[in-house]
Amino acid sequence: MLEQDIQEILFSEEQLKERVQAIARQIEADYEGREVMLISVLRGSFVFMADLCRALKLPCTMDFMSVSSYGSGTSSSGQVQITKDLSEDITGRHVIVLEDILDSGNTLSYLLNILEHRHPASVRLCALLDKPDRRVKPVELHYCGFTIPDAFVVGYGLDYDQHYRNLPYIGILKPEVYGG
Ligand code: PRP
Repeated sequence: MLEQDIQEILFSEEQLKERVQAIARQIEADYEGREVMLISVLRGSFVFMADLCRALKLPCTMDFMSVSSYGSGTSSSGQVQITKDLSEDITGRHVIVLEDILDSGNTLSYLLNILEHRHPASVRLCALLDKPDRRVKPVELHYCGFTIPDAFVVGYGLDYDQHYRNLPYIGILKPEVYGG
């Protein structure tokens, strides 16, 4: 059913697994001997978080936050609001923010700025997908899974109208599904 709405598989389960392992090795090398705090920005990053945290051979804690971004149609705006804040204090911690996708940069530039003001030891951003063609605000991306073209992608946590998040791969949605 879900499969019928997919035009093309961009990254298979196997490719995603390999890339997540590679990112984990990079993080382990960079944070050797330290503890990291993984922050998953809900909802899209929950699958990436689940896989990356299990690939990571480092002491780590996990926390979650939700933000809503007000924009028209398929693009976000600069107006971002925290709808669920972290449960833990990040002061003095080595924070890695996990995102499913970095698009315009509006959400992340706002969020990273808020987190910096809470005095963590360090903050880095890790996004599974990067769509640089759509960037409006510059955001430093430390760990990137894949750079992708400006296509409507779903699966592995990414949604269209809250559906398709449970697809185990990342695919391009058929334009007729979203009226494109
Ligand atoms: C996505 C993604 C980022 C944001 C990136 O979330 O998880 O938070 O958009 O877009 P930007 O760079 O243009 O700001 P979305 O609003 O789709 O919510 P979701 O995670 O609940 O799917």
